[in-house]
Amino acid sequence: MITHVNSMQRIAIVGAGYVGLSTAVCFASRGYQVIATTHNEENVRRINAGEAPFHEPGLNDALRRCVQSKLLRAESDREKAVLQTDMSFITVATPDQPDGTIDRRYVIRASEDIGRALREKNAYHLVVVKSTVTPGTTREVLKLALERTSHLTAGRDFGLCMNPEFLRQGSAMHDTLHPDRVVIGEYDRRSGKALGDVLNAFYEGAVPLLTMGLESAEMVKYASNAFLTTKVSYANEMANICEGVPGVDVSHVMAGVGLDKRINPRFLNAGAGFGGSCLPKDLKALCKFGEAYGYRAPLLRAVLAVNDGQARHIARLALTTIGKPNGKKVALLGLAFKPDTDDLREAPSLKIAKQLLAAGARVCAFDPVVKVITREGFEALEHADSISTCLAGAHCCVVVTEWEQFKALTPDDFITQMAQPAVIDARRIFDPPQFRDRLPFTAIGLGDGSLASER
Ligand code: UGA
Repeated sequence: MITHVNSMQRIAIVGAGYVGLSTAVCFASRGYQVIATTHNEENVRRINAGEAPFHEPGLNDALRRCVQSKLLRAESDREKAVLQTDMSFITVATPDQPDGTIDRRYVIRASEDIGRALREKNAYHLVVVKSTVTPGTTREVLKLALERTSHLTAGRDFGLCMNPEFLRQGSAMHDTLHPDRVVIGEYDRRSGKALGDVLNAFYEGAVPLLTMGLESAEMVKYASNAFLTTKVSYANEMANICEGVPGVDVSHVMAGVGLDKRINPRFLNAGAGFGGSCLPKDLKALCKFGEAYGYRAPLLRAVLAVNDGQARHIARLALTTIGKPNGKKVALLGLAFKPDTDDLREAPSLKIAKQLLAAGARVCAFDPVVKVITREGFEALEHADSISTCLAGAHCCVVVTEWEQFKALTPDDFITQMAQPAVIDARRIFDPPQFRDRLPFTAIGLGDGSLASER
């Protein structure tokens, strides 16, 4: 374990979701003294018992080690945590509102709680906003909340930075420990230097650190997610064109495109569309934000429109495959918005299931981690406890999430168990020739035009 000589050794993390808990565990695993705070008492108990409250590979083991070594503990009292530490990261959620703008209530409340603690504190404390907030929020809203409740002045009495987070669910630990870059938005030089020193020590100087103004740092986060979603919608649009062209397969096309170093192969996988708690929300918030400044953002709106169409397209393919839907069973493999998470937020599976149910099909789903969907509108969705029960008697199977265990399935698994062995591989996990040889006319790979003339 590395023990740092930096003066900011004790860290409070306000908000123990994916970002907060991963950050807390990573700091603690490198020798920092960390207090993670959450208002959820059950989660406080679970974290203190060394148990992560959500599914994230590697997190549980690392968390248990940190709790055992007494470098990490959870606490529901934010003020107490701030008083016992040198810096606080705000990592609470900024969910979307019905109009697409972000709900800033939680970041404001976190700033107020920190501010109240700072009022009692006699030492310099650095406040770092990690939550995703639109440009101007840290300076115009959170700084004011901190100053109002602390009766102190930012820059003079306490530090303030914005430090956007780029980790992905499913690889949160790896991404936190090995980011491509670290962006620091500084309110003043002292704050930026203090955070820079902490992060440079944490990464042992191995990660590029970019320092800029608060607003630019806030914008980097939105601009990055906007670019990633643009790549995904671009790949999906190419898939939809390729699907109609005999002999053209989007996976070959994207492999050829991605090797251009100016483009790179990542985020070019055509599929069921991007979901999750971040990309759709951030894109909508950026559109709204641009609109407030008089810009309509036509490119970003098109990216969203292509994404919305993708789930509909897959549901349509399934309905075409089964013919009259009445009573016929469609098997959905995968519910989580991506593998290695139990998160269902904005998951394409929900949109696909909803459409199939509305058309009158029976829909049965299997996911290795998400065992049941209890939300309204999905009462008719059936849940299978294994791949086999999911496939049994089905007239069509749609691969919605590319979980590792689905990749081992062979054409025989479908032929022997389904009423009609029709497979729509919406995540392109299967080898098209192998499947097409055994399931002629009914193995459809998204973006694969090999069946174009038959359809
Ligand atoms: C995303 C970004 O990748 C992170 O950098 C960012 O920190 C995070 O949002 C955030 O703003 O907090 P995440 O939502 O966890 O991370 O997951 P991704 O791996 O980006 O996947 C998002 C969605 O895009 C998934 O539904 C995935 O299936 C889809 N996707 C991704 C594709 O359809 N094709 C691809 O090639 C890549």
